[in-house]
Amino acid sequence: KKVVLAYSGGLDTSVIVPWLKENYGCEVVCFTADVGQGVQELDGLERKAKASGASQLVVKDLTEEFVKDYIFPCLRAGAIYERKYLLGTSMARPVIAKAMVDVAAEVGADAVAHGCTGKGNDQVRFELTFFSLNPELQVVAPWREWDIQGREDAIEYAKKHNVPITATKKSIYSRDRNLWHISHEGDILEDPANEPKKDMYMLTVDPEDAPDQPEYIEIGIVSGLPVALNGKPLSPAALLTELNTIGGKHGIGRIDMVENRLVGMKSRGVYETPGGTILFAAVQELESLTLDRESIQVKDSLALKYTEMVYAGRWFDPLRESINAFMEKITEKTTGSVSLKLYKGSVSVTGRQSPNSLYRQDISSFEGSEIYNQADAAGFIRLYGLPMRVRAMLEKGI
Ligand code: ARG
Ligand code: SIN
Repeated sequence: KKVVLAYSGGLDTSVIVPWLKENYGCEVVCFTADVGQGVQELDGLERKAKASGASQLVVKDLTEEFVKDYIFPCLRAGAIYERKYLLGTSMARPVIAKAMVDVAAEVGADAVAHGCTGKGNDQVRFELTFFSLNPELQVVAPWREWDIQGREDAIEYAKKHNVPITATKKSIYSRDRNLWHISHEGDILEDPANEPKKDMYMLTVDPEDAPDQPEYIEIGIVSGLPVALNGKPLSPAALLTELNTIGGKHGIGRIDMVENRLVGMKSRGVYETPGGTILFAAVQELESLTLDRESIQVKDSLALKYTEMVYAGRWFDPLRESINAFMEKITEKTTGSVSLKLYKGSVSVTGRQSPNSLYRQDISSFEGSEIYNQADAAGFIRLYGLPMRVRAMLEKGI
């Protein structure tokens, strides 16, 4: 028996290694995905995994795949959960879980394991991906089984099993970081009335401390996807990396919210998504030139369903893929550029242009127009309002 464990090197996942060996008597292969979370010294990580009892550590760099195949489709779809959350963690789980399924096949494992608690969304996202891609894999979720109840317990278990625990002071927050965002949950945030502490934030400066001078940038977009910054073409991950630096410097992309988890409970979370917030502003703005009213309406209504599915971990569901195909088609002509001004936590659009723009100054201008005849409006309004006139006539007995 062999199990592939989603491994971060932190206390929780380190303790899972001996626990799996003890309780399932299996060989443990640790797997770490690089999704832009800033994996510190992979060298040390391998030593650590082995010292904890793993037979090997497999590391895969998924950053470019994550941005190109997971983040960008959500960006193009306009996927925002409960009006605020840009899905940073939700998008990362399927790419990591998919890689675990691949690693399981490579090393001949019959099971996979993760360190998610039984109270959250992440367990669902991992396991729905496992189900979709290899229904034969056995899934082990130690947090739902063991009686380790928190940090002290975990440290004790680690000591008993000679698991090396780095003396670094663990953060009091539950955090999840990747190239798109960092999430903060737990500790004082558990009371929704509490303002987050200034030193909690990691990717953005406090808008109050951001530069007094605004910064102007231009995002180039082709078919609904960002491709360039200030005229310079960049790969998806490179573009996002640069925008994270710029956005972070201006305090952009902080979100504080109470959200509904899939398992039914509410949860308070704070997110930092600096580059992503800039990209959302740019991509959505360009659609104002390239999409007509009805297209925007249908796109926005499907975005709601798309978002729900991504949040719930149904990435590899044919329905999500079909809505994705719709998003690709509807944004085919969304090409052009958007200029933005970044200033103390805010992103404002200052200009937009597109070779496929449906905006025509010769029609829309307050100056006279050949194509649009104002006299036509009178007949249009009479017919458009006919049902309202009929109802009013009925009420008034006319
Ligand atoms: N609430 C967010 C979500 O469900 C963030 C979850 C963070 N996950 C974590 N393991 N810290 O997507
Ligand atoms: C967890 O419970 O493992 C993290 C939070 C979540 O998955 O929503």
